[in-house]
Amino acid sequence: MKRRYFFTLVALGALTLAGCPSNSGGGETSPKSGDSTTKPGGDVKIGFVVKDAAEPWFQTEWKFAEEASKKYGFQLIKIEAKDAEAVDSAINSIATQGAKGLVICTPDTKLGTTIVAKCKEKNLKLLTVDDRLLGADGKPLADVPYLGISASDIGKTVGQAIADEAKKRGWNLAEVGAAVLTVDEIETCKQRTDGATESLTAAGLPAKNIFRTPWKKPQQIPTAVDAANIALTQHPEIKKWVAFSSNDDGVLGFVRATEQKGIAPESVIGVGINGTSGKDDLKKAKTGFHASVLLSARTHGFSTAEAMYKWVTEGKEPEKETYTKGTLIDRTNFKDKLKEEGIEP
Ligand code: GLA
Repeated sequence: MKRRYFFTLVALGALTLAGCPSNSGGGETSPKSGDSTTKPGGDVKIGFVVKDAAEPWFQTEWKFAEEASKKYGFQLIKIEAKDAEAVDSAINSIATQGAKGLVICTPDTKLGTTIVAKCKEKNLKLLTVDDRLLGADGKPLADVPYLGISASDIGKTVGQAIADEAKKRGWNLAEVGAAVLTVDEIETCKQRTDGATESLTAAGLPAKNIFRTPWKKPQQIPTAVDAANIALTQHPEIKKWVAFSSNDDGVLGFVRATEQKGIAPESVIGVGINGTSGKDDLKKAKTGFHASVLLSARTHGFSTAEAMYKWVTEGKEPEKETYTKGTLIDRTNFKDKLKEEGIEP
């Protein structure tokens, strides 16, 4: 009897200790924001790799991932990886630091099987965001959890916004040229420009007026300016331009190229995707950048990091596929919509 009492006391003592906030990480059951050392996730490390840390989209995604790390008290290891070699060394570094999970937007979707094998070798759970991994057959790796945007629908919103603005300006679509800066090697990017093309042609823009130009790597504004100049130089007959791409930066490249050529903003309608780069143009009174589809960087950053934390700590597997929506923003509403998403306008 005495003996049993002793064991009960020891067990109770252990429970009480586990219930106390401590640096060893066994603490609270309902995490709140504050001192990370008192959180249950204190020992947990999660890697978050992005393809381009200079792009505002990925900076914002990281910012929200950091909010998740603060809420749950895990450590977030952020690394930029621009190519296969950098991905390899990022995974090595994350594993060496003792991380148990990786969230990645890969610089090259064709690295799919390599990334999966490497994570398996290093015992890292893998969740992909933004750009979906492809297998050797060129098809998406359906087994790897993925969170991305509803790319085709968002593309259609872009095309419709362009058609609506052209109508408002009284443009005859038969005379309008569409510059499309394409990134067809990334599935989500191709679906975006295909969706926009579909709704614009449905609105009456002749297919022969659509000029597709590949936007080469690194997909940043200066390379978008180069791609835009090809379309502009090849089509001097076009006096009214519309432009779309996989994201804001592609469209901003086109808009900057028209400015350099002295084409008036009244003759240009560019509609982007992301909102995180485009917002700077929307602050200016008048540019050819008309609107953007604001995506939820909070969901892409916070929710992916949170899902990985729960996978690592509770064994709760994330959904295999999650698709997020976007909101059309222009000069009339962008400040409010950005604030609603937790982004400084
Ligand atoms: C791709 C684009 C980014 C952003 C994300 C959103 O990675 O390159 O700019 O649009 O998709 O998922």
